[in-house]
Amino acid sequence: MDQTATPHAIPSACDFTVFGGTGDLALRKLLPALYLRDLEGQLPADTRIVGVSRAELDDDGYRAEVRAALTTYVAPEDLTDPAVDRLLARLHHLTLDAHEPDEWHRLHALLKDRPDHETAARVFYLAVAPSLFGAICDNLEAIGVVNDAARVVLEKPIGHDVASARAVNDAVGRVFAESQIFRIDHYLGKESVQNLLVTRFANTFLEPMWNSHWVDHVQITVAEELGVGERGGYYDHAGALRDMVQNHLLQLLCLVAMEPPSHIGRETVRDEKLKVLQALKPMTPEGVDHDTVRGRYTAGLVDGVAVPSYTDDLGHSGSKTETFVALRTEVQNWRWAGVPFYLRTGKRMDRRASEIVVVFKPPPHAMFPHSEGTTEPNRLHIHIQPDEGMRLHLTAKEPGPGGIRLRPVSLDLSYATTFEQRSPDAYERLLMDVIKGNPTLFMRRDEVEAAWTWVEPILTRWATSPDRPKRYPAGTSGPTAAATLLERDGRSWQESDQ
Ligand code: BG6
Repeated sequence: MDQTATPHAIPSACDFTVFGGTGDLALRKLLPALYLRDLEGQLPADTRIVGVSRAELDDDGYRAEVRAALTTYVAPEDLTDPAVDRLLARLHHLTLDAHEPDEWHRLHALLKDRPDHETAARVFYLAVAPSLFGAICDNLEAIGVVNDAARVVLEKPIGHDVASARAVNDAVGRVFAESQIFRIDHYLGKESVQNLLVTRFANTFLEPMWNSHWVDHVQITVAEELGVGERGGYYDHAGALRDMVQNHLLQLLCLVAMEPPSHIGRETVRDEKLKVLQALKPMTPEGVDHDTVRGRYTAGLVDGVAVPSYTDDLGHSGSKTETFVALRTEVQNWRWAGVPFYLRTGKRMDRRASEIVVVFKPPPHAMFPHSEGTTEPNRLHIHIQPDEGMRLHLTAKEPGPGGIRLRPVSLDLSYATTFEQRSPDAYERLLMDVIKGNPTLFMRRDEVEAAWTWVEPILTRWATSPDRPKRYPAGTSGPTAAATLLERDGRSWQESDQ
């Protein structure tokens, strides 16, 4: 395993092939991200972008689609004609079907059609259903385009349980070495998520307190106002546990709980995250009943607007899928013994907010027993989105003579006001890491499988339990059972950061 902190240089040439090139992810996220990096002059000068799909499109037709997507998804102040034209000039489109290998020689011909084709970075981005991953990789191998400079990017879901995740990993692993496989979890590309590592490990004041001696508990919330919208077909087979907890929330938990690696290297961070996943308290059937809550939204009001129920969004009843999960777990190691980690995520909630709250224990001795006012435990709120930043809640003395009056106050760091610059989208960072060949922020096979291993007993119990997800009206903070999960421990969810 490479444990060195190798600086990753931008290669001089790159062929970036997107399977699913006309799909929602490509048009909404990937091409705008490539455009914005190109605008900053970061894409290798000699970059070609090849959209692959089953659509009958030539290069010009594809360019027209991408132009429309850039106009829709890139902020107007970032759109300039020369930069748009430069990106469009890089584009090609190939009409290919994963199940029609005879046509694939055209991709081979295109990738070979440059003098430096052996050394140009070759990215294959699979923005398609995972059921196609194996067939696409086999075709790539068959046409002889998987060289040392090749890397493949996999979008989630990587399987729907341990066995299927292994099957996907095996299928891709037959063609690509693990070091060439980049499994995206876009949460790891968010600025505030990366800043969590910097806050923890580039400062001295937090780390001595970052353990069970001083931390009472940790809350991780990813709340969305949106419902499932057009994605009902996918979502109803996934549910919130597979869609959000198995990947995004567990990755956040890992970054909060992991030990400091010796340096930020391509494997060191992933090694430490894996140890956290392996230390999670295993879920027994009784544990699932006691420590997890699943919910499903009914019709309600979000921001004053009436929205339909999940069943209406889906267009049929009879589904048992959850759109909300809350759970309690522990990291069973020396640092975190006995500290609860509460996780929750849901769609159609009362606010859009992704945040981590570390709640510290009260001072060991009450020195101001007769003071007026209120005290609350110290809390560090890490705002991942929106309004990225951090707020540390403290207790201060209210100014004035005559006794001591305590008052909660906060120290704030707002990214927007401190740095006064646009926070890049997670995909901008992650796509550049792929081009540079830096896998640090991507999930390794063992991490994905460890996460599924922890999640699977919950899936199994839920599948066999006669219980159904508890109802919560859209526009609320989830079912009341989620509040009870903490109340029975004498705690409550931090619903706002005031
Ligand atoms: C995706 C999930 O991975 O993350 C979606 O599939 C979810 O269901 C999305 O809406 C949330 O991402 P973000 O960046 O908007 O918080």
